[in-house]
Amino acid sequence: MTELISPTPPVADARLPWDEAMADPIGAIAAARTQHGDTFVIEGARSPFLFLFSAVGVQSFYAVAESDASKGVADWQMLRRKLPPELFRDRRTFPHDLFARDDVVQYLDVVRSAITIACDELGDSGTLEVFDFTRRLGHRVGLGTWAGPCGTSTEFNELIDALDELDGAAAFVDPGAMAAVAASDYAAERAALATAEEIIGRAVDVRDADAHEHTDHFQRIVNTWSDAEPDARREGIARDVILVHLGSMSNLFSALGWLLVDVTTRPELAAAIRGGDHALAERCALESTRIAQRSIMLRAVLQPIEVDDGTQTWTVEPGVMLATLLPLTNLATEDLRAYDPERWNRRRIRDGRGGGDERELVTAFGHGAHTCPAQPFSLSVMTAVLEAMIDRYDLEPQFADASPRAAQIGGVARAAAPCPLMYARRSA
Ligand code: HEM
Repeated sequence: MTELISPTPPVADARLPWDEAMADPIGAIAAARTQHGDTFVIEGARSPFLFLFSAVGVQSFYAVAESDASKGVADWQMLRRKLPPELFRDRRTFPHDLFARDDVVQYLDVVRSAITIACDELGDSGTLEVFDFTRRLGHRVGLGTWAGPCGTSTEFNELIDALDELDGAAAFVDPGAMAAVAASDYAAERAALATAEEIIGRAVDVRDADAHEHTDHFQRIVNTWSDAEPDARREGIARDVILVHLGSMSNLFSALGWLLVDVTTRPELAAAIRGGDHALAERCALESTRIAQRSIMLRAVLQPIEVDDGTQTWTVEPGVMLATLLPLTNLATEDLRAYDPERWNRRRIRDGRGGGDERELVTAFGHGAHTCPAQPFSLSVMTAVLEAMIDRYDLEPQFADASPRAAQIGGVARAAAPCPLMYARRSA
């Protein structure tokens, strides 16, 4: 299929993890880059992937127009490996709409109450597993924000079990498992979708019966369905909520987990944050996210385009997937492999530390038109949780080494092994 690209680029003798079981897909792509340089193709079962790693190539990747090479189509092609097609049909709310006129005060209230519930569940002392803890908390914060009454409902546990079963991120966290999903025709996913719809449907009834005037994210979703027939309205609201929530599950809880891992293993950072250095907490959130990024960034080519990589301009036809892979650029130098929150000046990387002329090569939340719309929300959640945990507890890591799961390609890393953290409530 390389005839879709001219001149013909180097073709790597490598596979992709959706087509063939692979223990270390990122290692395989790194090896292909060592052999072929910064631009090469890997043939996928459905399309050739044109990987771009040079500074100009990655700039071209981020600059391409959505109508020419689409992130939306690429995401859908990825997620449909795990999610039944009906979930994508007739959506009326997208994260962009929810976060467009963002109101930090509104969701910080939800975050604070989610943290209070999480701490009540922990009790005074014990040992938590970092990523289990942040996953549950991420569900509570997310559902409290865009599923209103669900965040506190008695069915909370049943709902998060269903959402964990549906989890679209499995398409890139556990790519080898997608063949079984296809073979079952989404049987487990469809059952989980029905459960989640039923529970969120009841939350719609609760909101309908509530005389207060709400303005939260859930209400914004409810309002977009005001003209629909009752059954379609309930289903539509539930599916909008589910798709937004699944989007949040891709990265937020795992980035929060790495933040807790990175700061609790560096007592000097924990002490400064406990002393009230809020800006440092946010720099740590950005740095932990940058280092833990495993994202494969994709754009599905829809129109013939020219892609300049600095050495060569490639003519690329529809059917090709443009790609770049954050762990290979974010961690390219010795300096970039080091954890250093001081490389960040507010939310930008300093020149000479991964910023500057080649800034597109390093990122936590993306570049250009598709930069994460939920970055302010995510950073607020991450810093609020970190500060609350450090304020309330003495925290002692019980793991020697926390490393990313090798089979994953995409999103923020999941941990290869459990990361137990001992906690003991500090006296007031
Ligand atoms: C720490 C948490 C998060 C990280 C590290 C993160 C990272 C990213 C990155 C790198 C991109 C750009 C991808 C690309 O250019 O191909 C992106 C886009 C996006 N993110 Fe996030 N994200 C996070 C949280 C969230 C949350 C909580 C939501 C939703 C509730 C969300 C929804 C989206 C959406 C919808 C886009 C696509 C925007 C577009 O196509 O224009 N993200 N995110």
